Amino acid sequence: MSAIESVLQEHRVFNPPEALVAKAAISGMDAYLKLTAEAERDYEGFWSRLAREQLAWHTPFTKGLDESNAPFYKWFEDGTLNVSYNCLDRNVEAGLGERTAIVFEADDGTVTRVTYQDLLARVCKLANGLRSLGVKKGDRVVIYMPMSIEGIVAMQACARIGATHSVVFGGFSSKSLHERVVDAGAVVVLTADEQVRGGKVLPLKSIVDEALALEGTEAVRHVVVYRRTGGNVAYQAGRDIDLATLVASQSTTCEPEWVGAEHPLFILYTSGSTGKPKGVQHSTGGYLLWAALTMRWSFDIKPTDVFWCTADIGWVTGHTYIAYGPTAVGATQVVFEGVPTYPNAGRFWDMIQKHKVTIFYTAPTAIRSLIKASDADPKVAPKNYDLSSLRILGTVGEPINPEAWVWYHTEVGGGRCPVIDTFWQTETGGHVITPLPGVTPLVPGSCTLPLPGIAAAIVDEAGGDVANGQGGILVIKRPWPSMIRTIWNDPERFKKSYFPEELGGRLYLAGDGAVRDAERGYFTIMGRIDDVLNVAGHRMGTMEIESALVANPIVAEAAVVGRPDDTTGEAICAFVVLKQTRPSGEDATRIANELRAWVAREIGPIAKPKDIRFGENLPKTRSGKIMRRLLRSLAKGEAITQDVSTLENPAILEQLGEAK
Ligand code: WT7
Repeated sequence: MSAIESVLQEHRVFNPPEALVAKAAISGMDAYLKLTAEAERDYEGFWSRLAREQLAWHTPFTKGLDESNAPFYKWFEDGTLNVSYNCLDRNVEAGLGERTAIVFEADDGTVTRVTYQDLLARVCKLANGLRSLGVKKGDRVVIYMPMSIEGIVAMQACARIGATHSVVFGGFSSKSLHERVVDAGAVVVLTADEQVRGGKVLPLKSIVDEALALEGTEAVRHVVVYRRTGGNVAYQAGRDIDLATLVASQSTTCEPEWVGAEHPLFILYTSGSTGKPKGVQHSTGGYLLWAALTMRWSFDIKPTDVFWCTADIGWVTGHTYIAYGPTAVGATQVVFEGVPTYPNAGRFWDMIQKHKVTIFYTAPTAIRSLIKASDADPKVAPKNYDLSSLRILGTVGEPINPEAWVWYHTEVGGGRCPVIDTFWQTETGGHVITPLPGVTPLVPGSCTLPLPGIAAAIVDEAGGDVANGQGGILVIKRPWPSMIRTIWNDPERFKKSYFPEELGGRLYLAGDGAVRDAERGYFTIMGRIDDVLNVAGHRMGTMEIESALVANPIVAEAAVVGRPDDTTGEAICAFVVLKQTRPSGEDATRIANELRAWVAREIGPIAKPKDIRFGENLPKTRSGKIMRRLLRSLAKGEAITQDVSTLENPAILEQLGEAK
């Protein structure tokens, strides 16, 4: 049975616990339906009301939505505000200065606490420091930092002075970093000397040096270095400066830069169906509204909660549910530097117990790998820890299979915590389809219903509605405040990718297939319909990996597809034709490992193909098109049922069946 069939045949329903419903921000299905009806009645008024209630505006806005240049929608455009003011000063002014903002746990278990007052002072110092380096409103700053208080401070400091940040995940290679620095036109790069993960020390600053040695980076005037390990790294005089030195003499107050609601808060690069990553541009007002609102709606955050999102600030989850959402609502959150399996696979459970975490948000891949680990070693199973502080669980990033859902619900949540399966994307800014803890009866494997005001629907290839029970293309029919504004430097690609003419040019195309069940209209996501893979919740373009492979001088041709994987959801499978004769035996293993290392250098270790298969050729149609469907079957190890009569050399199918 396929994963999707198993979800559609899923009849277990978990109703929200009564005690939770009673106190929830949205309490009961009627309250949800009331909000949905309000949005239906007066869409612009609905979002305007929430934007006024949730955010502190420096200048109030007079108009909610401007659709005059669709699909370049604008929200709350004539209002001004500052994100860091909203996340920090506002909380301090409300008397929460002494509240813990961040409980930081380092890889080695060292814990550091920061109050809202401290966080504000640190953000102001760095904001002043960046201003002293000449950074001003609208400049782009690249942040290539490990999980740290400093990383969050860096993002908030950029927001404070109106600089647009672009965080690059610390696992990306110098080439990937270079590509992003150049596309963003960054003037400053913030980094660390080194990063520590699972007891291992990995470089950061030297990778920045490599990236900046490449062409097109002349705009970068300074590199600011957070001393994480104190390791020995090279400094370029005049360009590089220690973060500690930069902030040492700076004031702990800093006047925020009041920016328009549409001012770009950040650009975050993500993979699309071509080789070049897309710089997803987000706004200030609409984005922050979503970060705050979904903390309240989807996670039901309360002043007594301890929130923990295990994502990295290099991904959008770490933006919305670490750097901005929790602070926007004055919450206490745990921030973690390390990995779930170090010093052992009980690390998450140990941290939940130690910090009395109440809301825990992680990825299906992590859950699946921890299920395996606790099967193998019962000592690290969740039942050995006191997890009674938990009240809400969340997942994100990829479909969660019902078995993993039920384990999470039972073994981690003790059967009492709703599992909030949040569907969203880098482009949506925050949750769009998700259960609400005090509202939604849960069905394992389904992300259930759209948030109030989100016009999610399933359509066919011409944009026509599809009946419940039938699969189709997931779209959102109306703009919403936290949606992507454009692709940085490429408005045409924005229109083509997300508002394609084939669907009429007005529907937001998510890029996923989905189905709604006949009984409740619940959504289940079936995975990407474009050439994008989801490996361990990380989005990877097949074209990016193919380009990396063919850039190797020994490679003649390469095609990359995904195949199902028990732990990572999908795994990368590369079919490779070498310029030399097809290798076999140990030669093939050695070359496959060389190619993996090559891809790690070109893109980053997350893009390394799990399987590499060598052939003398790739299966192609008469017109020379690679038969990807056939490759997907080969990757899965399925019997070939497709018509292969047009293949020039059917023997290659046998060759390609062997994985290295
Ligand atoms: C893609 C977006 C959302 C932040 C992290 C990933 C997949 C995301 C779910 C979910 C099924 C999901 C989709 C989506 N996805 N959440 N709850 N159930 N699939 O953001 O890197 O932009 O990836 O992740 O395929 O399109 P992203």
